[in-house]
Amino acid sequence: MSNPPDSMERIVALCRRRGFIFGSSEIYGGIGGFWDYGPLGCELKKNIKDVWWKDMVQTPPVGPNGREYQMVGVDCSIIMNPKVWEASGHVGGFADNMVSCLKDGCNKLFRADKAFILGFFDMSEIDATAGVIEEALKIAKSDPNKAHEMMAGVNRAPKYLKVVEADTFDDANRQNPFDSLPNSVRKLFKGIPAPATWPLDKPLPQSWPRVACPNCGGELSEPRSFNLMFESHTGALQNTSSKVYLRPETAQGIFVNFKNVMDSTRVKVPFGIAQVGKAFRNEITPRNFTFRSREFEQMEIEFFCNPKESRMWYEYWRDLRKNWYTSLGIKSDKLRPREQGKEELAHYSCGTTDIEYLFPFSNEPQELEGVAHRGDYDLTQHQKHSGKDLTYFDDETKERYLPHVIEPSAGADRFTLAVITEAYTVDETRASSEFMKFHPRLAPIKAAVFPLVAKDGLPEIAEPIYREIRKHYPCQFDAKQSIGKRYARMDEAGTPFCFTIDGQSKEDGTVTVRNRDDASQLRIDKSRCLQYLRDQLHL
Ligand code: GAP
Repeated sequence: MSNPPDSMERIVALCRRRGFIFGSSEIYGGIGGFWDYGPLGCELKKNIKDVWWKDMVQTPPVGPNGREYQMVGVDCSIIMNPKVWEASGHVGGFADNMVSCLKDGCNKLFRADKAFILGFFDMSEIDATAGVIEEALKIAKSDPNKAHEMMAGVNRAPKYLKVVEADTFDDANRQNPFDSLPNSVRKLFKGIPAPATWPLDKPLPQSWPRVACPNCGGELSEPRSFNLMFESHTGALQNTSSKVYLRPETAQGIFVNFKNVMDSTRVKVPFGIAQVGKAFRNEITPRNFTFRSREFEQMEIEFFCNPKESRMWYEYWRDLRKNWYTSLGIKSDKLRPREQGKEELAHYSCGTTDIEYLFPFSNEPQELEGVAHRGDYDLTQHQKHSGKDLTYFDDETKERYLPHVIEPSAGADRFTLAVITEAYTVDETRASSEFMKFHPRLAPIKAAVFPLVAKDGLPEIAEPIYREIRKHYPCQFDAKQSIGKRYARMDEAGTPFCFTIDGQSKEDGTVTVRNRDDASQLRIDKSRCLQYLRDQLHL
């Protein structure tokens, strides 16, 4: 699994140039961690959300027992009673460890688990302790505490140290080989340089000097906890009693409406409640384009089931969600479900599988969605904090219980980025050299209609075809520029089919259909354009 090193930069450039994604408030210099979707991007993201809603909520498949289950939706407010976030554990525990530069004017922040100290030992200066250092560095990734213990007794420091931001230990290593260091640093080494990568959130071995801020050379703080929720105030007075939060996840809106949905509909366990909407997190280091943003959209389901069946439903949702991505064109060798280790689990979870995708900015697959077994954590917490009875009475078995919850929680922006990455195709033989192979269900524009030239009666044949298609699918009409340039524009937008009206159309009533993926062309009768699209798009 690997990607060409510059493909992420090329994708970001194409997104900007063709109006998929722009930096937020760009004309004022932008703002870190916030993004705007342009005309093509907002269609793409809307299609993703619509397809998710249709496949998961409106027409879900049958359950693992071959029976239908009910899915309903809610659309909750972003600002909720702050007690919700106390009950959910977000006020107390939704925090990242961060390290900051203490120098005024710099104050750069690092998320401590997303930054690493990179050190290089000079092997010509290493004595009998070399073996211990080597061993400790080998286990620093899997067992940093043990490595720290081993290094504590070694009176040796790396000759050169710097802080690098990276998602994983391996990425930090890979992106920072010795020969990427400036000449002036490399000259200091007499022997072979031995690289040492150390997590920033673990105390440094005593023998190592304190590491300086890579931005300004200033002193760095110890790691400290930083709550990720954005705060605001309701009403005119700004005091502690008016403090509110922008929701950091859509899930809690679902939990606090569990009783409302039960009382106002005829749903029976097992059933799911879904919500698509904005979430906000004051991420310390937003990066990798839209992958980690401060404002993003989630597509979440809380699926309520009998505790005795919760394992079965957990496995069902884990497999269903992974297959959903594959069905939308995400290649299986870039997609992997990964069961989280016990030490990674969120405070509420008794089992989580991350569905991960190999983005071009990392050599390790990264989380697209988490499918979590939340047990009865949330309903228990809200029952306790609100004083309301949230138990469910099962008419058939005559049991009363708090349902267990399986939560498939996906990010609309992360999946949009994965779709863009996956669709991005380089073909130097084409006029555009880059094109987007979007799955037809997701493509922002489904078809284009081109008169070969804007005269000789060709536009008069093309326009009715365009008008007919437009009633059903997003379609564009273009009569300007060379036909090659028009195809190139549609290829970059990821439009699956282009219909071209040429001289022959006047004689025999046929038009050409060009397929985006292989640029092949065939002729069909002009009356069949809409039906042809219907057959090919399978929408
Ligand atoms: N309710 C559970 C929950 O929110 P999460 O793993 O924190 O779990 C779920 O978030 C999904 O939301 C992630 O898998 C990811 O797709 C998306 N997400 C989380 N933080 C994000 C961020 N800062 N930027 C973009 N997407 C994010």
